[in-house]
Amino acid sequence: MYNMNPFLIKTYKGPEYFFDRIEETKKLSDAIMNERNLTLFSNRRLGKTSLIQHVFSKLDTRKYHPIYIDLFATQNLAQFAQKVTEVVYKSKLIKENIFFRILGSIGASLSFDEHSGMPKIDLNIVNRQKIIKGLPELFEQLKNNKKHDIILAFDEFQELAGYEEEKAEAYVRTIMQDCPEITFIFSGSKKSLMKEMFASSNRPFFQSTQMMELHEIDKDTYAKEIFSVLNSHNKLYDKDVIYRILEETYCHTGFTQLVLSRVYSESGEKIDDTLFEMIWEDILEENRSISREQEFLLPKLQWKVLVAIAKEEFVKAPLSRGFADKYGLSASSSVARAVKALLDKGLIIECGDLGLRVYNVYILKNLQKLY
Ligand SMILES: Nc1ncnc2c1ncn2[C@@H]1O[C@H](COP(=O)(O)OP(=O)(O)OP(=O)(O)O)[C@@H](O)[C@H]1O
Ligand SMILES: [Mg+2]
Repeated sequence: MYNMNPFLIKTYKGPEYFFDRIEETKKLSDAIMNERNLTLFSNRRLGKTSLIQHVFSKLDTRKYHPIYIDLFATQNLAQFAQKVTEVVYKSKLIKENIFFRILGSIGASLSFDEHSGMPKIDLNIVNRQKIIKGLPELFEQLKNNKKHDIILAFDEFQELAGYEEEKAEAYVRTIMQDCPEITFIFSGSKKSLMKEMFASSNRPFFQSTQMMELHEIDKDTYAKEIFSVLNSHNKLYDKDVIYRILEETYCHTGFTQLVLSRVYSESGEKIDDTLFEMIWEDILEENRSISREQEFLLPKLQWKVLVAIAKEEFVKAPLSRGFADKYGLSASSSVARAVKALLDKGLIIECGDLGLRVYNVYILKNLQKLY
């Protein structure tokens, strides 16, 4: 275990590599134990998926059966049904004969991937009505499971808002309402979209779940835990360098972890300033061309606003006269549109009281260096 890089940059691997999130773990676990449906949202790469996996791994398997469904890149209810049926099949929570009867009724069949051997559900997507009518039966069967409490996490749930069917949200909301025996967790990035889905009175999920926003890990807590991990791996380090990494990456977990992983794997004797400078420069260099490419990918004003926000680091009043004058931007109405477009594209994010920030820390630092 001690040879493994303790700074994860992909998936969750266990509590020993998972920093802090003590409060958040408690909050999510409490919701599960009290059968409250919960919506978890934050900007991208802050640790939503990892938190769900962390909490799931701690649940008592004699009482709970957690199911995780990733809706990333699904575009319609047929693809939604496909993901759900595949995961439910693997969970073995429904007797095979019943499962296959439901599959038949929605016009689906099971096959196995010839390379991985993983089960794959093939849907006859021409028959969407059949799929939409048949899927609730699967949930009926799930909730009839008396042995375990079922916890169903839908990750990347914001995808539903873009489904081809207008009624997709209402459809899933009805399933949720019909299954009080199942605890649902809805998780998603695109913070503003998630908030809209669960907090606007004209949307089906309006005020139907407990809302939980994930923020950055507190800097001192993060630092302390990093020190302790480095100590247990017998690695020498300058405390200031660790603090510098946390500050340069704004404690934005996905970005912080990558830098930590690199300084760890490329360190000899000690993690010091020289090593950090070298790796930081490498990472920025690797991101230089995608930073510059934005100029050609974006309309001119969006590009100008993106660079201006990067240079300011955080912008509280993007529509102010001062900001526009400083960066030679046009009328505030067009700046407002540019800001909205950049938010929609995920290139900038809202950071609470601090204001707007360029999402990707490495792109941010590269843009700061432009003319
Ligand atoms: N508490 C933590 N301790 C250590 N590493 C973490 C922690 N939380 C997240 N990570 C790491 O940070 C990265 C991003 O986390 P994760 O994928 O869970 O974020 P996310 O919010 O689900 O992102 P997205 O919105 O892109 O789905 C991953 O590499 C993960 O391993
Ligand atoms: Mg995720």
